[in-house]
Amino acid sequence: RLTALIAASVGKDGYRHYMEKELHEHPVVIGQTLQRLIDPATRRVVMPELPFDLAAIPRAVVTACGSAFYAGMIGRYWIEQYARLPVDIDVASEMRYRNPPLAQGGLGLLISQSGETADTLAALRGMRAVGQHIVSVLNVEQSTMARESDAVLGTVAGPEISVASTKAFTAQLSVLACLTIALARARGLMDGAMEEAMVTALLDLPSKATEVFERHDEIRRMATIVAEARDVLYLGRGAMFPVALEGALKLKEITYIHAEAYAAGEMKHGPISLIDSSVPVVATVPSGPLFDKTLSNLQEARARGGRLLVFTDMEGAPRLREIAECVVAIPTVDEFVAPILQTIPVQILAYEVALLKGTDVDQPRNLAKSVTVE
Ligand code: G6P
Repeated sequence: RLTALIAASVGKDGYRHYMEKELHEHPVVIGQTLQRLIDPATRRVVMPELPFDLAAIPRAVVTACGSAFYAGMIGRYWIEQYARLPVDIDVASEMRYRNPPLAQGGLGLLISQSGETADTLAALRGMRAVGQHIVSVLNVEQSTMARESDAVLGTVAGPEISVASTKAFTAQLSVLACLTIALARARGLMDGAMEEAMVTALLDLPSKATEVFERHDEIRRMATIVAEARDVLYLGRGAMFPVALEGALKLKEITYIHAEAYAAGEMKHGPISLIDSSVPVVATVPSGPLFDKTLSNLQEARARGGRLLVFTDMEGAPRLREIAECVVAIPTVDEFVAPILQTIPVQILAYEVALLKGTDVDQPRNLAKSVTVE
């Protein structure tokens, strides 16, 4: 009911759906969220006062549901890679019953747009009970989870009305990127020059995100192929694996097409048997250290007759054009921030397919914006 009330007061600003409007808000939302955590003059991350010492954290446990969980997966790649802090992660509905052995004083990191998701809230309470410091990445800062956290890192995404999350996801990633930098610095692994380079890459994102929308025609062409399919396979490696998961989830949610996401290297352990010309393979493959490895996975899919629909960046595009049927090339950015930018065209693809299918984009069947029951 609350969502309906907010929806009535928010309006679609001339867009056909809230989802379309919210997709177009990515650049602004990323910028606003970063503004809270970055001092542009010094190009340093400025964390809010925390009631514990980031440098003393022995490990982190991340949990969330839905898209927020995939944002958490990307956060894990970052925190492990740059801050060298061990991170465990699970969906909240599993984490709350797993009862993992946790040493006192660890970081319990919860991610939620609404701050009301029942399983995430229960996981928060479980972690608090075993002495974890609770930090929540939340869009609704007056939520139950906010009240029960030691610290809240806000995403400044504004009200998100569409049931399928879009802008909240890139806002969550923006916060997690800043937290990664703060953790790495606290642990003595980030010097001033490195921090400045990473912060600069983050601050460039709003303008790069705006450029993604210039690729709309290619994404629409991709959508015409996906809309004809019964099953779609999404692939990605490293931090692009959660981007693939997010793409498959968005497609399932709003188009009712069956989609599965796999870590690209795992494809040969099962899903490769599904591949033929009727199952499009959607891959996210920006340039970077994992490019060649993912490319060879795509060649394997191609050799089995798979139709390759690929998201990449300007640098990766020439080699992918040799093998893929459709290539969407967005601006090349630092490897660190690439998952934030690569998510946007993947979400737009799902939206465009939903338009072709004529589904109820903002209110997909059987789904709720906020799942407040177990
Ligand atoms: C529902 C929504 C998803 C969302 C998930 C988690 O399933 O449909 O879009 O990602 O809940 O919600 P939260 O508010 O905790 O981020």
